[in-house]
Amino acid sequence: MEKFIVKGEVQLNGTIRMSGAKNAILPIMAATLLCSGISIIHDVPYLRDIKVMQDILALLGAKITREKNTLVIDTTIIQDTEIPEHLMREMRASVFLMGPMLGRFHKVRMSYPGGCAIGPRPIDLHIKALEKIGADVKEGFGFIEAQTNCLTGGEINFDYPSVGATENAMMAAVLAKGSTIIRNAAREPEIYDLQVFLNKMGAKVMGAGSDIIRVDGTEKLTATEHIVMSDRIQAGTFLVAGAITRGDVMVENILSEHLFSVTDKLKEMGVQITTGKNYIRVQSGDLRGVDIKTLPYPGFPTDLQAPMLSLVTNGKGTSIITETIFENRFKHVDELIRMGAKIKVEGRTAIIRGIPKLTGAIVAAHDLRAGGALVLAALAAEGTSEIENVYHIDRGYEALEEKLRSLGANISRHKKD
Ligand code: EPZ
Repeated sequence: MEKFIVKGEVQLNGTIRMSGAKNAILPIMAATLLCSGISIIHDVPYLRDIKVMQDILALLGAKITREKNTLVIDTTIIQDTEIPEHLMREMRASVFLMGPMLGRFHKVRMSYPGGCAIGPRPIDLHIKALEKIGADVKEGFGFIEAQTNCLTGGEINFDYPSVGATENAMMAAVLAKGSTIIRNAAREPEIYDLQVFLNKMGAKVMGAGSDIIRVDGTEKLTATEHIVMSDRIQAGTFLVAGAITRGDVMVENILSEHLFSVTDKLKEMGVQITTGKNYIRVQSGDLRGVDIKTLPYPGFPTDLQAPMLSLVTNGKGTSIITETIFENRFKHVDELIRMGAKIKVEGRTAIIRGIPKLTGAIVAAHDLRAGGALVLAALAAEGTSEIENVYHIDRGYEALEEKLRSLGANISRHKKD
């Protein structure tokens, strides 16, 4: 087990380039199963979740090589349609494999992805969507088995705009007979990137990024090459790092439109924001209280709720942060309170009274984004902090300590004694 040791009160300054988005890469890696051939994916960071998806694809029979930040995935020979339980448990995003496996092999068996630190994470919307286009899904004994003679186009109306369920439905529908309409689809930018990838394979997907997506089924798809979109959540995390240390940080290779809801809130707090076509610059400002409610895109992203909560613990004024997406996504609060933060949680709402400065402490990451938030808090806190369970952070932030050091942070990785 590893930990970060952070010496606080260090202003961050400089420029950092964003790499490819984990939440775009994972469904795209699953989509490579839709055809036989060699797919090439560029700008892929070294992340634990991506390594788990590589291991799953390899266990199914794919041949995967990595040349620096390029993944080469050969899905010519896939000899299994069962996802191993231990890997399903390690990463719930493996549920994305249902759609492509049903599309190409007409069957898939996997264990229930199970919950994680932020909530039970059901997959009822995924199952209902696949049943709507002809899948026969059986659940029992901790397993899900889905099969079909032939997927047929249909109408999918989501009760909730689930990101993963939208992506699963898209990937299942591309090889179905006939057309599928997906209504109340999630609109996250990663879904648009998946549409781009699928259409490069020869699929006919339209409307991703809006709440209605149409998929006209095709007979066959071919492997393709793709540069994934950059990681808006990683970018938002670095913007907060600049703001919380009252520094001057330029985040490059990011579409500012993807983070409008976040930069708008930062401006409301008094932080200076400058945006260009593919960069966002954050400069020090005083930190006033702000109210935030997480919502499906283009609302404020739940994955940046924890980093922003760390930010508002500093400064003047009171903030109210409401988490509407996940049931249990305030695991960072108790840890921040150990650092002196004044926070009260009532149900899905956290009320935070800003104080001039947190104090360093030994804290533990409980999930990916909560871990990132604790690092951010430690950067600004008085004294030294230790952040334990860094493996959570490594799931979604590539070499976070190296990137922060490049901006001047005093942070290092150590084996937990
Ligand atoms: C994706 O998760 C992301 N993961 C999450 O990022 C992100 O927080 C989330 O979308 C919301 O933006 C990946 O893309 C790999 P959902 P996903 O289905 O698809 C409920 C990170 O930190 N729900 O939109 O699982 C669910 O319980 C991760 O990078 C059902 O009830 O999110 C949750 O409350 C964390 N039934 C809500 O919908 C279902 O069948 C949103 O889930 C599916 C979801």
